[in-house]
Amino acid sequence: MHREIIINCLYSLLRFIKMTKNLTLLLVLIAIALMVVSCYYDNEEELFPKLSTGCDTTNVTYTKNIVPILSSYCYSCHNNANAASFGGNIRLESYSDVKAILTRLYNSVTHNSAFPMPKNSPMLNDCLILQISIWKNNGAPL
Ligand code: HEC
Repeated sequence: MHREIIINCLYSLLRFIKMTKNLTLLLVLIAIALMVVSCYYDNEEELFPKLSTGCDTTNVTYTKNIVPILSSYCYSCHNNANAASFGGNIRLESYSDVKAILTRLYNSVTHNSAFPMPKNSPMLNDCLILQISIWKNNGAPL
């Protein structure tokens, strides 16, 4: 019974392809199928291939990892001195200020926000994004 349904389904698919004579459609369908299958094999190492070498993801802390990132890419607009004029009044110079808007910060650096950061600059590299993500998931240790 099930076999019949599958065979019928394949048959009508073939008929459809023959009817439309559309090879492109077939290729698109195959590509979609491959994409769906490949999703099951996604893992951190494959998604961030270069990170297994050279990206420090152990014991990510505010002092060791986050401050250097913020200082290189964000303080020019978001330190206490500049926040009012350049940073939309968002302050990122103290641990408590950063922690208070951590979700918004994470969404902005991953570009899942109306305010992609750093403003008017390319997205942070994969290693920095991963470090911020690990730090956030670990409860933002100091
Ligand atoms: C060139 C200046 C500039 C730089 C550099 C910059 N920002 Fe911003 N940021 C702004 C401005 C201005 C706003 C206010 C919203 C807007 O106008 O885009 C803002 C808003 C934000 C917000 C609030 C977004 C929201 O959801 O309301 C966050 C969080 C933020 N920035 C984080 C960062 C982080 C983290 C960095 C560094 C990786 C950074 N910004 C770098 C100028 C900057």
